[in-house]
Amino acid sequence: MEFSCTICVSIFSFVFQFFSFDSGDVLAIPPPFSISQDAFLQYLSLGNITIDLPALYAFGDSFIDPGNNNYLKTVAKSNYSPYGLDFDGKPTGRPTNGRTMVDFIAQIAGLPFPPPALEVSEANKKNSRTGVNYGSSSGGILPTPRSVDQLFGHVLSMDEQIALFENTTKDLKDQFDSAESFNQYMSKSLLFFHIGSNDLGIFWEFERHSNYTVEKYSQFLIDELSKQLQIS
Ligand SMILES: *[C@@H]1O[C@H](CO)[C@@H](O)[C@H](O)[C@H]1NC(C)=O
Ligand SMILES: *[C@@H]1O[C@H](CO)[C@@H](O)[C@H](O)[C@H]1NC(C)=O
Ligand SMILES: *[C@@H]1O[C@H](CO)[C@@H](O)[C@H](O)[C@H]1NC(C)=O
Repeated sequence: MEFSCTICVSIFSFVFQFFSFDSGDVLAIPPPFSISQDAFLQYLSLGNITIDLPALYAFGDSFIDPGNNNYLKTVAKSNYSPYGLDFDGKPTGRPTNGRTMVDFIAQIAGLPFPPPALEVSEANKKNSRTGVNYGSSSGGILPTPRSVDQLFGHVLSMDEQIALFENTTKDLKDQFDSAESFNQYMSKSLLFFHIGSNDLGIFWEFERHSNYTVEKYSQFLIDELSKQLQIS
């Protein structure tokens, strides 16, 4: 898979040009993989707070992909060693050695890692109430430009992730006693988004997008995402 590795590296170096990461923000030594919620809260010096989060739904790109791309015809995959070296030693499809930020949030909230949407079984779609992760490496706010799609293969854009989420909510609704209790559950749940790095780092170069100035393109992305978030 020489090809996909090269692409991954070039994607990452490209993305890194756009974002300057401040290493001061990164925990030098991450807490152990199987840390309990209590121990994690103590680790963060938040020993006494209580968190009431019933579910975590995550949308986005390679920063949070938990392995959805394993199920897609794309070269943007990370389901081989050394990925997962610090994720209990197992490659899962996460494009990282360890946990994603979504996994860390889940542990802090005392929830299981939200599973990849494309991995959730029909039975679990109706039973699991703790959340799902729709993230897909190389996905963006915009539909993937055709030329990028041809290069990387098909991944889940934001529209597709939201369509999957709408199906999740349809499946779940019936499990609640009333529309009210379902609404209460949804309003307490966390919907987490990490999206836009591929729109900025890759898509801009393709097709019509490079006709925009950076400022116009950024505004266009914000407008598109705002529309997508207004789901009923
Ligand atoms: C937690 O609460 C207990 C008593 O309510 C207090 O003694 C302790 O200092 C608190 N710990 C933190 C980390 O705030
Ligand atoms: C949502 O569910 C419908 C009905 O089962 C199905 O036809 C459709 O393909 C699903 N959408 C997605 C994005 O999976
Ligand atoms: C983008 O610019 C190219 C030439 O620079 C032009 O051919 C094309 O029509 C433009 N596309 C849009 C959507 O404006």
